[in-house]
Amino acid sequence: MNKKKIIFSGIQPSGELHIGHYIGAIEQWIKLQNENNCIFSIVDYHAITVNHDPELLKKRSLEICKLYIAMGIDPEKSIIFKQSDISAHTELSWIFNCKGCYMSDLKKMTQFKDKAGDKQELVSVGLFNYPVLMAADILLYDTDIVPVGEDQKQHVELTRDIAKRFNHQFGQTFKVPEVMVKKEGARVMSLSDPYKKMSKSEANKNSYIALLDAPDVARKKIKKAVSDSGSGIYYLPDEKPAISNLLSIYAFLGNREIKRLEKDYKDVGYGDFKNDLADIVIKFLEKFQDKYSQISDSQAEEILEKGKEKAKAIAEKKLEEVKRVIGVK
Ligand code: TYM
Repeated sequence: MNKKKIIFSGIQPSGELHIGHYIGAIEQWIKLQNENNCIFSIVDYHAITVNHDPELLKKRSLEICKLYIAMGIDPEKSIIFKQSDISAHTELSWIFNCKGCYMSDLKKMTQFKDKAGDKQELVSVGLFNYPVLMAADILLYDTDIVPVGEDQKQHVELTRDIAKRFNHQFGQTFKVPEVMVKKEGARVMSLSDPYKKMSKSEANKNSYIALLDAPDVARKKIKKAVSDSGSGIYYLPDEKPAISNLLSIYAFLGNREIKRLEKDYKDVGYGDFKNDLADIVIKFLEKFQDKYSQISDSQAEEILEKGKEKAKAIAEKKLEEVKRVIGVK
């Protein structure tokens, strides 16, 4: 019999969750939890690497916990916890800042370059060394697999390097985790600019469908989504990036083959196609929004409290081991 694997992943409470989070990450988590030991975090210390509103951060952390559950993460099977509740994460990240990770690694991170743009000297140090905290998140739990969207792959690769370097210097301490990125849906693009990733930090709310968008809002956003020049509903990411992105979303949320959709929409205009896509998206949203509205804040707090106790026991044990091998204990 196969031994259960340890799965770890997380989301930052830095904005509204959107369908990209579901398609790229959460959908895999739901499937994985049946056969594995899963740990899903709400990584709130990552969310303070940029400007933030304290009240909103608190609200969004609970919102994510409720969304995890409403979408199908079962707190009886999986551990759900808030990163800031377990200080072992920040302690281990300090150790990795000193052992295992170099400035040159972090300077290569494309997400840092994208987020900092031409203000690299002015952004917080936290934004720069955020992948180090992510490595600590993952390595504290002897994680086997990290299911993430495309944009996080580089950070998991760095995590692997950190684990290997640490093990090399101090002896076998960390498991080297594998990244799990889907073949399709790992990078859902913005509705307003199909060359950019759909992102919760985007100021233009029309660029994403939030998981908590009301049906009429979702429909309007899809209507407003940019289309490509010309006509025809074809999956040609280079020539028709906007329609190809919409087709991928349709195929994924509607559980249909893209080839089949191309046939069905052969002689159909963009307007009618978008209308049908809106029906599919709304049906998907309604499936869990109902459940979401039935979960109270205190229920979510209770789940996070239980998750904290379970995760803490694992994390603190690992941190003790690390402290011993580096000679501070
Ligand atoms: P975050 O909060 O930006 O995103 C959470 C997850 O959603 C995926 N994702 C997408 N997938 C497809 N298309 C998109 N447009 C899209 N946008 C987001 C992300 O790839 C991610 O899997 N640093 C991480 C959070 C983190 C973490 C960790 C993840 C902290 N520690 C440890 C895994 C393991 C982040 O900011 O993800």
